[in-house]
Amino acid sequence: MQVEDLDTPVLIVDLDALEENVARYRRYFEGHRIAFRPHIKTHKTLALAHRQMAEGAIGITCQKLGEVEVMVAGGLRTDTLVPYNLVGRQKLDRLTALARQTRMTVAADSEYTVRGLSEAAHAGGVSIGVLVELDAVGGRTGVSPQRAVELGRLIDALPGLELRGVMGFPTPPKTRPLFQEALDLFDRAGLPHPVVSGGSTKCAFQAHEVPEFTEYRAGEYLVGGAGHMWGGTHTVAQCALRVITTVVSRPAEGRAILDGGSKSLSATFREGSMGHLVEYPDARFYGASEEHGHVDVSACAQKPEIGERVQVIPVHPCPCVNEHDELVAVRKGRVEAVWPIYARGKVR
Ligand SMILES: Cc1ncc(COP(=O)(O)O)c(C=O)c1O
Repeated sequence: MQVEDLDTPVLIVDLDALEENVARYRRYFEGHRIAFRPHIKTHKTLALAHRQMAEGAIGITCQKLGEVEVMVAGGLRTDTLVPYNLVGRQKLDRLTALARQTRMTVAADSEYTVRGLSEAAHAGGVSIGVLVELDAVGGRTGVSPQRAVELGRLIDALPGLELRGVMGFPTPPKTRPLFQEALDLFDRAGLPHPVVSGGSTKCAFQAHEVPEFTEYRAGEYLVGGAGHMWGGTHTVAQCALRVITTVVSRPAEGRAILDGGSKSLSATFREGSMGHLVEYPDARFYGASEEHGHVDVSACAQKPEIGERVQVIPVHPCPCVNEHDELVAVRKGRVEAVWPIYARGKVR
């Protein structure tokens, strides 16, 4: 089957581009002797997770337990990190069930989370690894180095838990002093930290500027996205994930309407745009309703016609993938595989 035979909107991944991304990030991380732990929340696809493991990953990162459950059910029992505070009985029960099947490490940034993890692990007769999350940049989760060492002491003392180190997200080079301070305090307290984990595609190629990192997490590196294209980490050709759409209306001279809207591309906007049109780089994807993409083509010398197919590079690949049941793997215009996105919608 050729790519032209696919009905639209359809989510595709270009295998040549994907393999180039795998190779260039692998070269970098191997060259700097930093272990690599891909984040599967970007693709949520078993076939790609297996492929990443075969390409030198030391394990995987999953943001949600539902993603881990899909991976384990699909035979991927590997060293798995959930860099997330798991709170609540239902999740802790699922975590201990998973810890019986695969090696689990989770993040924590509060005594509440740590005590919950310990009680569940102890009652379930399993051991769960814990990384203390540092408040890197971005104002999300994480604690100060001083608080991290207190949590480290607690994790080290409580049953069912194994203190494995520290993590942060995102971790540009300016976060180095934070990691240094935390590790120094851990050393002075005699606490182990075999894992020091950084993350984010945006600053992946600067990971060596934080030599304390033993491992690194990235997800979007694999397929890029218009956000990465504008940020300079991926060229158009390296943006492997695309939604092929059809122009269904040209209601005005400067306007083209696509059959892919927020339910195909996701509702993510960046720099006033929902994506990059590969064939029409001067077009501006300025808005969308659920099933219509609204594109300003007034700056395009030649304009798309009704019935024409247009490839859109989504701004943010992760929520875009989450909108689809299947990912079509394409090489040089030919369909090589259709992968079910089994972990889509796994938000718990
Ligand atoms: C904790 C954590 N680690 C790693 C990543 C991967 O970063 P990126 O999506 O930039 O590849 C994310 C992304 O959201 C994350 O939340």
